[in-house]
Amino acid sequence: MEKQPFLGAHQAGILTPQQASMMLVAFDVLAADKADLERLFRLLTQRITFLTSGGPAPDTPNPRLPPMDSGILGPYIAPDNLTVTVSVGQSLFDTRFGLQAQKPKKLQKMERFPNDSLDAALCHGDLLIQICANTQDTVIHTLRDLIKHTPDLLSVRWKREGFISDHAARSKGKETPVNLLGFKDGTANPDSSDNTLMNEVVWVTSDQGEPAWAVGGSYQAVRIIQFHVEFWDRTPLKEQQTIFGRDKHSGAPLGMQQEHDVPDYTKDPDGDVIALDSHIRLANPRTKETQSSLMMRRGYSYSLGVTNSGQLDMGLLFVCYQHDLEKGFLTVQKRLNGEALEEYIRPIGGGYFFVLPGVKDANHYLAQSLL
Ligand code: HEM
Repeated sequence: MEKQPFLGAHQAGILTPQQASMMLVAFDVLAADKADLERLFRLLTQRITFLTSGGPAPDTPNPRLPPMDSGILGPYIAPDNLTVTVSVGQSLFDTRFGLQAQKPKKLQKMERFPNDSLDAALCHGDLLIQICANTQDTVIHTLRDLIKHTPDLLSVRWKREGFISDHAARSKGKETPVNLLGFKDGTANPDSSDNTLMNEVVWVTSDQGEPAWAVGGSYQAVRIIQFHVEFWDRTPLKEQQTIFGRDKHSGAPLGMQQEHDVPDYTKDPDGDVIALDSHIRLANPRTKETQSSLMMRRGYSYSLGVTNSGQLDMGLLFVCYQHDLEKGFLTVQKRLNGEALEEYIRPIGGGYFFVLPGVKDANHYLAQSLL
């Protein structure tokens, strides 16, 4: 029975090897005041504690009442490698709860980048919950449970479901998932087993001048990116590889052999081997000055129906984590503006959020240090 610990200095679902199924659900918070907000976070903590540890589904003693559990998973709720990661948007720090002074310094509303076609119905939120598990049933059961317990506190704003191949998920991070453009995605992520590096790249630390409650949290950038897959599938292999700067099958940087080989751009100053406007070179030029823009990506594919113009509606739920939103996502996205890949993609939604620090033991609850 695969179980992910919920308690700890940091929330699970960030460095956890990617499970096969994920869901992003953004909410508007309906809580009337700070006391209500505390009730919400206590409730979320209780439900997540139960759902991630598993156990018998609660009985419904009185059949005249609605069942206590949706029943989707049957009489026993298996933990199924579930992680539920809770983050908050900048709108939670408006005047409603008196939390203005506690806002993480870099938390802001997602702006529109030049290639974006943002749909207001798919953007922002007071709260974001990322649910990941081995199976989609568990993810949906979790969402239904959380919503059932918080009808007066949360209202769903938008939701997207994503997946990676079972094969990649079963490898527990050893095999890189392939995205719907057919390229391995996640290869060059920093090593999640290196705690010193994670403190530099992912987690907010006490020396950053952030409000004290935020230490142990992380900035999360979410982008819903639609792909023009029909167009991509008619693009020559060589051009596809030039756009990313990597070999499509092995995932190796162009001119190299192995997926995890590291390119040396000082030996290719004019971009003869890996083009200067390739995705990997713009995203990470690997210079001393750009070392601070590292991030941890944890993306998932999505596939829905057909767009209004008759194209397949599929793409990437891009999610990345970093200790500083400006140094990480914003700096990298600005470098990527105008990249060759833009012809094939259309960012349509998302938002910026701050992942709450972990719940250190059973006597604590999510967001306790904030409230
Ligand atoms: C690398 C795909 C959007 C940041 C890569 C790689 C692929 C890829 C295939 C190479 C393998 C790897 O290291 O993972 C995509 C696709 C995107 C997308 C299909 C959306 C259409 C973004 C965005 C950002 C980003 C929005 C950040 C703003 C990075 C970074 C790397 C990378 C930092 C690692 C580069 C390196 O260290 O060599 N991406 N990506 N990507 N991508 Fe993206």
